[in-house]
Amino acid sequence: MLTTDPCILVIFGASGDLASRKLVPAMYEMHVAGQLHPSTVILGVSRTQKSDDAWRDELKSWVERQVKKFDAAKYAEFARRLFYFAGDAVKRECYPPLEARLAELAEEKGTRGNLLFFLSVAESLYEPIVERIDEAGLVVEGKRWCSIDPSTRSWQRIIVEKPFGHDAASAASLNRALGRAFEEEAIYRIDHYLGKELVQSMLVLRFGNSIFEPVWNWQYIDHVQITAAETVSVGQRTAFYDETGAIRDMIQSHLFQVLAFVAMEPPSLYTPENVRAEKIKIIDSISVPTADEVATHCALGQFASDGKEGAYHELAGVAQGSTTETYAAIKVHFDNWRWAGTPFYIRTGKKLAQKRTEVVVQFKPPAANLFRKVAGFGNETPNRLVIEIAPKERFNLRFEVKVPGFGLRGANVDMQLDYADHFKAEPVEAYGPLIVDAMRGDQTLFKHRVEVEGAWNAVMPFLDARSAAARAGIRANYAVGSWGPAAADELLARDGRAWRNEP
Ligand code: BG6
Repeated sequence: MLTTDPCILVIFGASGDLASRKLVPAMYEMHVAGQLHPSTVILGVSRTQKSDDAWRDELKSWVERQVKKFDAAKYAEFARRLFYFAGDAVKRECYPPLEARLAELAEEKGTRGNLLFFLSVAESLYEPIVERIDEAGLVVEGKRWCSIDPSTRSWQRIIVEKPFGHDAASAASLNRALGRAFEEEAIYRIDHYLGKELVQSMLVLRFGNSIFEPVWNWQYIDHVQITAAETVSVGQRTAFYDETGAIRDMIQSHLFQVLAFVAMEPPSLYTPENVRAEKIKIIDSISVPTADEVATHCALGQFASDGKEGAYHELAGVAQGSTTETYAAIKVHFDNWRWAGTPFYIRTGKKLAQKRTEVVVQFKPPAANLFRKVAGFGNETPNRLVIEIAPKERFNLRFEVKVPGFGLRGANVDMQLDYADHFKAEPVEAYGPLIVDAMRGDQTLFKHRVEVEGAWNAVMPFLDARSAAARAGIRANYAVGSWGPAAADELLARDGRAWRNEP
């Protein structure tokens, strides 16, 4: 088993939704799985006054609700790792007592000065908190003479949650602010989609086999669809969502990560440097649409009322006349050799027909149809590989076979690998393995500064004034429980294609 260093995981925004719903339950799962160093502890920082025990009790019901297998005895064990510190992390006066508490815990638990900060706060607080951490002198790595033996050095790392900027300029500014306090090697820009089992498995499928890679290009692949459909609404966060929209919330972040894994070149070796370098290259080769292309390369929508909840534009917290999209479909091309002429269609939306996250790789038909004169043959559809990421974790490969019996008749069959059936493994909360990777110093599944800025550059035309035509008339243009606006179907129909909507 891989080992991690002992450390203090300092969660800023400990009273927030992310910490309670995802981060702490994920750490509980990692504790149960034996992935945490015995000395590792978690210090939650938030403004509300409460004791360590009060925080532990509060989290117990969250963990119980969120994890698949809750065990009270294991929770009691895990709770001994939880500590709480009340303070306002943007204020300077928070730091001397916080530093003292960290030193005390380090001494008592033996965490060797290793600190892993997690920014689980509003995006506007990222820069001030990073500045305060730096001013307080909490980051010593890379800032003082270090011993030659790395095992005797302490490390300080930071995990930054999305939204990572609001546009290309703000992302660059945040990167500069982080860079003033931390080395790039110590910055972990997290994206929970990279913690998903089937997203990671995509690299193994492509590069751990010899049969896929030779056909994984424009010559054999007609197009790729990436879908992240949700049935949920925007919830309590209307104000945040109205500033964000589906392109920022899902496409620039999560779905570009999936896109990168589907489209990137093979790294020469599975190391953080090599994998990240290939991701930077593929994101950089996205063809940025021109003003004219924006209208034909994207379809945007807002959900209508379903009788229970109002239409998106009627919700409290949504600006009057808002053109923020709750649905987006875009067409992406790469300016590179492998994908010349192969479009990638990406779609996501709220209140759609099904919760479904998947990648569809649609192959071209065989070069020649030698069965064209066989009576009863002719219904053949080209090969298709569907990688279902959630809620099911499955690979489905469709191909043509002969129907048994007399005569020659073809049929499409799906060969399926279901992770739950085959491996009998329960999926864990995606944050857990990623945070453990950060504790190990493994940046493979985290985004590099250059990649984030590249992803913003690629989506900016869909967000700025150039997208005005696509935004006109988006209000209530799709029914709740549907697969999105008609414009999204037209986007593919214009290319002679259709979305995979079948169950
Ligand atoms: C979050 C978005 O990052 O991802 C949410 O802010 C979205 O709007 C969520 O619902 C989707 O994550 P998952 O893992 O459920 O696909």
